[in-house]
Amino acid sequence: MSVLPEFREVMASPLRHDLTELPGLDYLSSPTGAIKEAQELAAAAFGADATWFLVNGTTVGIQAAVLATCGPADALILARNCHLAAFSAMALAGCHPIYVMPVQDENLGIAHGITPDALRRAFSNASSDGRHVGAVLVVCPTYFGITSDIAQLASICHEHGAPLLVDEAHGGHFAFHASFPAHALAQGADVTIQSTHKVLSSLGQSSMLHVKGDRVSHECISRALQTLQSSSPSYLLLASLDAARAHAQLPDTFQEPLDAAAAARQLLRELPGSGLLDDHIQTGTDGIHGVDPLRLTLVANSLGMSGFALDDLLQREFGVCAEMSTDKTVVFALGPGSRMEHVRQLAAALSSIRGRSRSPSQQRSQPPLQSAAARSSLPEMRLTPREAFFARTARVSAHEAVGRICAELLCPYPPGVPAVVPGELLTTDVIEMLRQVASGGGKVAGAADSSLETFAVILEAS
Ligand SMILES: Cc1ncc(COP(=O)(O)O)c(C=O)c1O
Repeated sequence: MSVLPEFREVMASPLRHDLTELPGLDYLSSPTGAIKEAQELAAAAFGADATWFLVNGTTVGIQAAVLATCGPADALILARNCHLAAFSAMALAGCHPIYVMPVQDENLGIAHGITPDALRRAFSNASSDGRHVGAVLVVCPTYFGITSDIAQLASICHEHGAPLLVDEAHGGHFAFHASFPAHALAQGADVTIQSTHKVLSSLGQSSMLHVKGDRVSHECISRALQTLQSSSPSYLLLASLDAARAHAQLPDTFQEPLDAAAAARQLLRELPGSGLLDDHIQTGTDGIHGVDPLRLTLVANSLGMSGFALDDLLQREFGVCAEMSTDKTVVFALGPGSRMEHVRQLAAALSSIRGRSRSPSQQRSQPPLQSAAARSSLPEMRLTPREAFFARTARVSAHEAVGRICAELLCPYPPGVPAVVPGELLTTDVIEMLRQVASGGGKVAGAADSSLETFAVILEAS
């Protein structure tokens, strides 16, 4: 990993630097010294009014942002493809979810962004149900680097008096180069949470939460973080956040990765049979406002295999680690430290795999997983995420589970949009769709029984 030289020195003797809240080292929960100064430098660098360092990833930032804005009497409008942390946040806050479906690409089986119209409909549903909306939460960019039209989403939220919270886990670098899409705070978002450890150079588990404007109370964010974070934060994680900020601000941190990403696109386009997501989508259309140039999504089945198989092969035989894979795609994340040699390594690996794979005309056509899973209607919600979290549960056969309230979050990949979440009704249609995805080579995340023979359901009081 490419890091600031000063931080490399710290990491040369981690035990010496694994300190705690000693005099002079400040307190994460009420900073007045070094941590305050580091957070202020971060706020200035990331375009925020205030920044909080997080030691339990973006997960804790999402939970804190929801707790700070939504109480049990409020609704949270959220994209249905939000991270698991959004669902645990609702269990903590006790708020009522109103879901917005992301635009889905049925061909590739992936979810993109949220459209302004879909958000307007969610506000109108909230209003017809007489619900006060505490906040709106969306994911931007997606795993695939696709951004939503945050400026429009923010202005709709603000018209309705609600703050826009953006899970920008994969967009921590956006503030640092003109080639990246504009970061969410610059477009009017009120809160962003970024996995600094994913796309910048901080240590695993360290993230940042940024606030801009006065729609979200700084005090409420601090109180939520005091409730959720350790009182013994790791100073290695905190130091790595400060170093990642300084590293991102160096003038040439992103130039080589950007050049490498451009070269990778060119090399992959020249490779017969390979395809890139960029060539399948059109920016400026519904749910696809922009694309992160440092995300490279390969359409894998043009190489004669599924994305899962290609990902596995690249890792086992060629030492190339992708960020994630779906049945049809493999996503590569470039960042500080990505070099031309890595791109050459990837192109050579793909070329070798290409040489031994079946030609596209010999491939077995894949079952239409995506259209099975790309649902626009949602199961009926019987309990809120909080009620479902505290309810008693039992594991029953799939047959017995039909018509019962689900206790698991079951998310088929593709398209990475939960089919059912705790508190919603399990139906024959949902179970069949999940089985179709699994038998077609997809995955169902969250299913404790991966055979999908049994499901956890809620025991209703008789
Ligand atoms: C979109 C998104 N949001 C939130 C998270 C959680 O982030 P962290 O692992 O930093 O807690 C992830 C993790 O993969 C993610 O992909």
